Amino acid sequence: IMSFQFDPRQYIRTVPDWPVQGVQFRDITTLLEHKLGFRQTIDCYVHRYFEADIDAVVGIDARGFIIGAPIAYELRSSFVPVRKKGKLPGETVCESYELEYGSAEIEMHTDALKPGSKVILVDDLIATGGTMLAAARLIEKLGASIVEVCAIVNLPDLGGSRKLEEAGYKVFSLCEYE
Ligand code: PRP
Ligand code: HPA
Repeated sequence: IMSFQFDPRQYIRTVPDWPVQGVQFRDITTLLEHKLGFRQTIDCYVHRYFEADIDAVVGIDARGFIIGAPIAYELRSSFVPVRKKGKLPGETVCESYELEYGSAEIEMHTDALKPGSKVILVDDLIATGGTMLAAARLIEKLGASIVEVCAIVNLPDLGGSRKLEEAGYKVFSLCEYE
């Protein structure tokens, strides 16, 4: 994990006790609303991966789409959505993951990535890492190779980034909160 000159925390709103008591919700909508903040966020990833010869940016439903698509556009790569179960019309691969209460499932189209292609996996935030890890497993099922998994925000105390690194992934975020 590393961060540089640009610190998105100045634009991210913290909402106390949302969605439940005790959670400090890191809200990126205020970052997206800020013209320069939004641009600088996208540019950080574009500069980081511009020479990495990325075939596809894989973005996670829903907030990962917002940053994944402009990154893919600038990298001249394809954009591939990982969606919540039941949204994709073609043949899919599926993975389930644990939530605070119960579990959820995400899917990706089986023909969305070529075996051996180089991808980055993008979401807004890493908390427990369950979502990112499940998405990474989908990519591996299709035989593509993950250059790095990246997010705007990492919450290291929730253990997700450590879990992802232990699973062998490189993890990059623009900022962290204790
Ligand atoms: C949030 C967030 C990440 C995930 C992080 O998405 O955007 O995808 O949770 O949590 P984790 O690291 O513990 O898995 P959410 O499922 O709320 O979906 P949304 O983007 O549709 O709001
Ligand atoms: N902010 C946004 N999404 C989240 C958070 C948060 O603090 N925790 C888990 N998902």
